[in-house]
Amino acid sequence: FEVPVAINEPVKSYAPGSPEREEVLNSYKELYNSKINVPIYINGEKIETGNTKPMSPPHDHQHILGEYHLAEKSHIDSAISTALEARKKWSKMPWEHRAAIFLKAAELIQGPYRSKINAATMLAQSKNIFQAEIDAACELIDFLRFNVQYMSEIYAEQPESSSAAWNRVEYRPLEGFVYAITPFNFTAIAGNLPASAALMGNVVVWKPSDSQVYSAKVIMDVFEEAGVPAGVINMVMGDPVMITDTVLANPDFAGIHFTGSTHVFKDIWAKIGANIHNYKTYPRIVGETGGKDFIVAHHTANPQQVSTAIARGAFEFQGQKCSAASRIYVAKSIWPEVKDSLLADIKSFKMGSPEDMSNFITAVIHEASFDKLAKYIDQAKSDENAEIIAGGNYDKTKGYFVEPTVILTTDPKYTTMETELFGPVVTIYVYEDEKWSETLKLVDGTSEYALTGAVLATDRYAITEATDVLQNAAGNFYINDKCTGAVVGQQPFGGARASGTNDKAGSALNLLRWASPRLIKETFV
Ligand code: SER
Repeated sequence: FEVPVAINEPVKSYAPGSPEREEVLNSYKELYNSKINVPIYINGEKIETGNTKPMSPPHDHQHILGEYHLAEKSHIDSAISTALEARKKWSKMPWEHRAAIFLKAAELIQGPYRSKINAATMLAQSKNIFQAEIDAACELIDFLRFNVQYMSEIYAEQPESSSAAWNRVEYRPLEGFVYAITPFNFTAIAGNLPASAALMGNVVVWKPSDSQVYSAKVIMDVFEEAGVPAGVINMVMGDPVMITDTVLANPDFAGIHFTGSTHVFKDIWAKIGANIHNYKTYPRIVGETGGKDFIVAHHTANPQQVSTAIARGAFEFQGQKCSAASRIYVAKSIWPEVKDSLLADIKSFKMGSPEDMSNFITAVIHEASFDKLAKYIDQAKSDENAEIIAGGNYDKTKGYFVEPTVILTTDPKYTTMETELFGPVVTIYVYEDEKWSETLKLVDGTSEYALTGAVLATDRYAITEATDVLQNAAGNFYINDKCTGAVVGQQPFGGARASGTNDKAGSALNLLRWASPRLIKETFV
């Protein structure tokens, strides 16, 4: 039989007067005015450890949304042992039943939980509703539905047989448990990393980012209501080094599904290496890490299109996407038009709380991020080879607000052309039209990362040259578009070099990392 054909969840408009706008604002107000207690989840039990940390909206940091509980080492050990116990039944559950559970989770988010998960993402991660909707609602639903479809296609893939011998492949789950670590910036990634491993029959210990716990709780509630059995996905918060060290010291550690920073991923990889003699299997290491994503505009590009790609690519969700455009190369002859249009766009952006839906820009995630951005902005103000042509102001009195900022530099290797800032700061370098080929080499050679990038041009030779020269510079390469906003089922997402293992999220390639196939040959003679 066939699973339901996955289609992308339609994005709701949240136009003034629409029912979804009223619903999400009601959820927002209700959550804002209640105190939410987030326990750790082990074996289906919600454990309040008593050791807590407060949660606040980044745009309103004196307001307390509630608190979350921190695990101790003994909790991590028990999360692992109960996961392994749950594995005995879960790994044997027919896949159709696992599929049904996660399809139900998608339905719950699509319907009854949509406004709550969006409101939680608006509050705790400071997304405006349009960014919350494409993430917490649509992308998470898409991950769940498409992964079910991909799983069924994987299982259908079988080797040749003959009348005398039947060859079959059993896509076994990994022998052990999977560790998922998720970042603050996408609620969809938070749901997908534990869910995709579990969908393939694995059990999971999941550590969400501290800045994401609030929406992670909604995900756990959805999983529970959808019927994910106790112990299959366990969610723990606490000292990240203690949690990771405890997990990686366990002989049954069988894989990591990670999205986060490059240095944390490299540390984890090194620790896995140091522990390699203790494991029963070679662990699967799957990670999506940083980016220093580019837009390169040829002199034949449409200037309006270039400025829209920059404005959206660099500033949606305050530039806090690993895919965000942060280094831009524009041909000199189109720069005046690109500049006028970009500055006009930025002038039209309103900044403030996501509760006011006319605000395009809200706060950055936390004080450390704010301080880092402020430092680089201040440095650009004093550096001779840099000029701030838009924004440049910041204020953390009420929330961590940083204006959308454009740095124009005369040095293509200027510090903010190379360093990942993860915020609403973009750096632009204007090159001579005839230096197109050199510029492409510069784009390729400037960053250690290779996540996303875009070329804008109407000249086909320019496009083909860029596609060739930048072959390894981006795992997701866009022609005449911005470099953000990959859609599950359409643009599988991931990068190489220092950006990750490129096991494309939302694809069969990714799901296969959570399977260890057994080939069975049965001979009839
Ligand atoms: N998938 C997101 C994008 O493409 C980033 O994680 O923007």
